[in-house]
Amino acid sequence: LGNGLARTPQMGFNDWNAYGCNVSESLIKSTASAMHNNGMQAAGYQYVNIDDCWLTHNRDGNGNLVPDPAKFPDGISGTAAYVHSLGLKLGIYEDAGTATCAGYPGSLGHERQDANSFAAWGVDYLKYDNCNNQGVNAQQRYTAMRDALAATNRPILYGLCSWGQDSVWTWGPNVGNSWRSTGDIQPNYNSMLSIFHSNVGLAQYAGPGGWNDPDMLEIGNGMSATEDRAHFSLWAEMAAPLIAGTNIPAASATTLSILTNSRVIAVDQDPLGKQGTMVSSSGGRDVLAKPLSNGDVSVALFNEGNSATTISTTVNAIGKTGAASYTLTDLWSGATASTTSAISASVPAHGVVMYRVAGGTGGGGSTTGPMRAVGAG
Ligand code: GLA
Repeated sequence: LGNGLARTPQMGFNDWNAYGCNVSESLIKSTASAMHNNGMQAAGYQYVNIDDCWLTHNRDGNGNLVPDPAKFPDGISGTAAYVHSLGLKLGIYEDAGTATCAGYPGSLGHERQDANSFAAWGVDYLKYDNCNNQGVNAQQRYTAMRDALAATNRPILYGLCSWGQDSVWTWGPNVGNSWRSTGDIQPNYNSMLSIFHSNVGLAQYAGPGGWNDPDMLEIGNGMSATEDRAHFSLWAEMAAPLIAGTNIPAASATTLSILTNSRVIAVDQDPLGKQGTMVSSSGGRDVLAKPLSNGDVSVALFNEGNSATTISTTVNAIGKTGAASYTLTDLWSGATASTTSAISASVPAHGVVMYRVAGGTGGGGSTTGPMRAVGAG
């Protein structure tokens, strides 16, 4: 969507995965404060997003949405003011139907009035869900809110929570800054794996301003550290929004170190804005490549299986050529090595080894005119 937002995939937090319906002003404020102090804000996490259950069950006499005063004693505007005081941005949740998924008032038919409320409160991001949609065409419902947000003149990032309905990736780029490509993620490896499979083939639809959204991160919510690193690597390789979904104030050092890995984040946030693609996949051994703006290529070697295995590819297979040797930087260990051709590693079960490959030509810098870095390739 050409609203100037999400030129790289949005980064932030959303309460749903960790807390479900138990959202509150105090939770949002303590999370924002923790993000401000624990390195997440410095690493690029910007949006602090409220999910479902922030409303009362009825609109007021003028038809306006009413934040639950018990959960949000200072309202959304007071919550936004605090989040903004830290240099962060506030997101909110609504639904393109008659009710949200948890049964609170929806925005279908109230788009202009509700968008005006969000803008007046200082909201910076809207996650717009798909429950109770009365069978009204999805593109029509999501476009109505796009136009309502634009009419407020406040920059509000617009995330379609459209579950892949009606091949949303084909019309989503004109309607939203991101679009959910699948159903809801769960905090286990099989869920993460199946969502990865559904999203990885959609690269052609992603780019600056509009991203495929394979749902929020489950890092810190029950998978092993190896699986959490794989999840973060794959989402970055797919240029996905990075929306942390764990209890941030209580996050472990391991969880925070994964969420704030600057080398992996740089792959996700690369300004070329290409989603990585599957270069080869056999026997659960996947090789993904993502061209980067300076001519480097990010490679993820993903072992889907239940025992360690060696995964191999070559510099040519990932789109590079023309040098006597190439530098590989391991994005998790930071170690560097050089290779003349082979890119190969032993990868633990459910794990990813991820490299940035430099040298020669190929990659994003040599294939894309406007984004080409001076001197790249
Ligand atoms: C749907 C969405 C989730 C979450 C819940 C809230 O299931 O896909 O991400 O927002 O609704 O009820």
